[in-house]
Amino acid sequence: MSYNVLLLPGDGIGPELLSQVKKVSNFLEDKMDLKINYDEADIGGVAIDNHGNPLPQATIDKAKKADAVLLTAIGGDKWANVDFDIRPEAGLLGIRKEMGLYANLRPALVFDALADSSSLKKELVSGLDLMIVRELTGGIYFGSPAGIETRNGEKVGFNTLIYSESEIERIAHVAFKLAMQRDKKLCSVDKANVLNVMVLWREVVTRISKEYPQVELSHLYVDNASMQLVRNPKQFDTMLMGNMFGDILSDTASMLTGSLGMLPSASLGDTNPSTGKQSALYEPVHGSAPDIAGQNKANPLAQLLSFSMMLRYSFNEVKSADLLEKAIQNTLSKNIRTTDISNPTSVIVGTQEMGDAVVKEMSELLNK
Ligand code: IPM
Ligand code: MG
Repeated sequence: MSYNVLLLPGDGIGPELLSQVKKVSNFLEDKMDLKINYDEADIGGVAIDNHGNPLPQATIDKAKKADAVLLTAIGGDKWANVDFDIRPEAGLLGIRKEMGLYANLRPALVFDALADSSSLKKELVSGLDLMIVRELTGGIYFGSPAGIETRNGEKVGFNTLIYSESEIERIAHVAFKLAMQRDKKLCSVDKANVLNVMVLWREVVTRISKEYPQVELSHLYVDNASMQLVRNPKQFDTMLMGNMFGDILSDTASMLTGSLGMLPSASLGDTNPSTGKQSALYEPVHGSAPDIAGQNKANPLAQLLSFSMMLRYSFNEVKSADLLEKAIQNTLSKNIRTTDISNPTSVIVGTQEMGDAVVKEMSELLNK
């Protein structure tokens, strides 16, 4: 099969991470029945530099046409002083909104070989397999009114946390469907003891749960959920939450796994009934790490795992995704590590060597 993928190399370590994706992709195209046509576009800081806008229209047009979009990360100190409305992050929020990517899936999976790298005790995290479903195009990130203005002689800043029933329904369906494919346990996170909008959230999620009687639903307030995540993360299977709670708790969940450098994510929208194509963007959870950019130090595994999620969810290329993920596991088992996940006995490698090691493992797996 042949696919059209838009690459958004972004800022900082982005371009060097995508070089590793290309390497892996070339190998798969060579060995598997798979052809990927790549195009590239600017987003974030690099787009501000080149076009004065973190999300040029040409990028939006290409993203909407592609079968899937693979992003790295955006932002950096270089753009700390640009106008708030055209900061690099506005590009990321903009593309999520433009592509209608309301469902953000953030798995937190502890690889056996990495259970020692977590800051939590090994027994608390080994075998952890958690999926956070974060609503991505609504809530306080996008609610209006929002701004800073002068009232009674002093400045006030405000944002609005708003969710409609239909927004809650559609993300709840995504979470329940995922829970059905997993351990059939869903925990919905809210703040229904304080916020009206979260009373509605809980009510709608409870209503939708009737359509999924096999899924065991629980509710937790967000403060308790954050505590439970570090107290006993393995009690959770699938978790559902709004945009801001998901931003925060997904960073916590990712750190349970030992390194932010390991976690991929998928952002999904509706399926177009006439083409059967679902809008989809894949990106690592980590940022653009400008401090190590261009130094061949960055861990490319979250980026490669994001590519693998794309192969699996957007293209149903299960064999290629399985091969890549198995190769990553084997590489880690051999204790080949970038510094962020290294231990005293690791063979420490750079970004490129890690990419090479994964390709070598894929090749060995195929020759077995
Ligand atoms: C994330 C990031 C973004 C967010 C930022 C960069 C706008 O933290 O994807 O979690 O807050 O959604
Ligand atoms: Mg975040």
